[in-house]
Amino acid sequence: MIINPVIKGVVARSAHPIGCREAVKQQITYCQSAPQIHDGPKRALILGASSGFGLASRISLTFGGSRTKTLGVSFERGPSDKGVGSAGWYNNIYFKQEAEKNGLKAVNLIGDAFSPKMREQVIRTIKEEFDGQVDLIIYSLASGVRPNLQTGEFWHSAIKPIGNAINGLTLNLEHEELTETSLSPASDQEVHDTIKVMGGEDWEEWITLLNNAGVLAEGCKTIAYSYIGPKSTYPIYHLGTLGQAKLDLHNKADLIHQKLQDIKGEAHVAVCKALVTKASVFIPGFSPYLLALFKVMKTMGLHEGCIEQAQRLFNSKLYTTSGEAVIDENRLIRLDDWELRDDVQRAVTELMANITPDNFKQLGDFDGYQEDFLKLNGFGFDSIDYGQDISMAFMESLKP
Ligand code: NAD
Ligand code: NA
Repeated sequence: MIINPVIKGVVARSAHPIGCREAVKQQITYCQSAPQIHDGPKRALILGASSGFGLASRISLTFGGSRTKTLGVSFERGPSDKGVGSAGWYNNIYFKQEAEKNGLKAVNLIGDAFSPKMREQVIRTIKEEFDGQVDLIIYSLASGVRPNLQTGEFWHSAIKPIGNAINGLTLNLEHEELTETSLSPASDQEVHDTIKVMGGEDWEEWITLLNNAGVLAEGCKTIAYSYIGPKSTYPIYHLGTLGQAKLDLHNKADLIHQKLQDIKGEAHVAVCKALVTKASVFIPGFSPYLLALFKVMKTMGLHEGCIEQAQRLFNSKLYTTSGEAVIDENRLIRLDDWELRDDVQRAVTELMANITPDNFKQLGDFDGYQEDFLKLNGFGFDSIDYGQDISMAFMESLKP
C-alpha cells in the first residue's frame, strides 16, 4: 500500500515506517557529531521512550558518547486491520535495530506504564538483561489518563486555566487554520485529576518500587521533564492545570532526591523548551506562541529540537566534569535558558501581538511547525520515496 499522512484535528492517524526509520537515523547522526557525553550512564530505563523527549533522550544516551544500554517502555500500536500502527511503534523498532548494529543492547517493552504488570516486567527485565541494575531512569510519559488502581476508575487530565476563562488561538493541523478557542476555568476536581495524571506521583511510585527491588545502582540518577515558559503563556500553562501538575512534579523531585540519599542517588527535573510533539499540539491557545517562538529562535540561530535539547542536557547539564548537575536556585536544570532569554522573549511578544488567523502562515513559522509534526509521523523527508509500496507483510515482520 501507499501510506499517506492522515491528520484529524491535531492527531496523526497514520505513520510511515520508512520515514520513522529516517527520523531515528537523522537524530542518531546529530548525536554522533555533537559534543559528546562524558561519563554517562551504562544502563538506562526510559519510561515514555518511543517519541518526543523520551526517544530523543534514548538516542542521545546510546549514540551521543556514552554508549548506554537502554530499556524503553512505551504505549504504542502495531499494524493491524485498523491501520499501519503508530509512529512510536516504528521508532522503537528502528532504534533497536540501530543500537544492535552498534553492539548495544536495547529492549522495548510495550504496554501501560501505570500498570503493576508493567512494573513487574521492568524489574524482571533489569534483573535478567541489565545485570540487575540501572544507572539512570528517564521519566517522560505524557498521557491524558491514568488508572486509579484502588478504584479501577481513571483520572483524566484537563488542559485549562485556573480562576478565569481565557480566549486564545489554536492551530488545527488538519484544516491549517488558526481558530478562536475559549477555555473555561478548571474545576477543583479537574485540577486535582490533572495533577494525578501529569504530576509526580507516578514517578515517585516507580522510583520507590525500583529502589525497594534493589535494581537501582549506587549513584543512580532519575530525571523528569517539565515546562514553565514565559509570562505570555502563564494563563494557559504555568498558572493553569498543567502548571499545577508540573509544580507537583518539581516537589516530588525533591522528595525522591531525599529518598535516594541511601544509594547516593539524585532526582532532577529538566525544564525544557517548547516544542512540537504528539503531546504539545494538544495544548489549546499555545500554538501562536510556538509559531512565534520558532520563527524568532530560528532567525537568531538559537532553535533546538528534542534531540538537540537531549544532547545538551546530557553533555553539559547532567553529566559534567565536576560530577555535579547544573541547577538553578530551585534545583531545576534549565534547558529553557535560550527560550527565556530577554531578547528572544521581547521579539516573540512583539510578533505574537501581530499574529492573526489571516496572517499566521506568513508571520509565524507555520511551515516549520507543520514540518515537525509531519516528521514526528515519518512524513516530509526529502530522502524518502513516499510513492513506494509498503506491504502489510513487511510491517508485520517488524518486531519491537
Ligand atoms: P510524547 O507524546 O512525544 O511522548 C510520550 C511518551 O509516553 C510516548 O513514548 C508514549 O508511548 C508514552 N506513554 C504515554 N502513555 C503511556 C502509558 N500509559 N504507558 C507507557 N507509555 C506511555 O510527549 P513529549 O512531549 O515528549 O512529553 C514528554 C514529557 O516532556 C512530558 O512530561 C512533557 O510535559 C514534557 N515536556 C514537553 C515539552 C514540549 O514542548 N513538548 C516541553 C517541556 C516538557
Ligand atoms: Na517522550
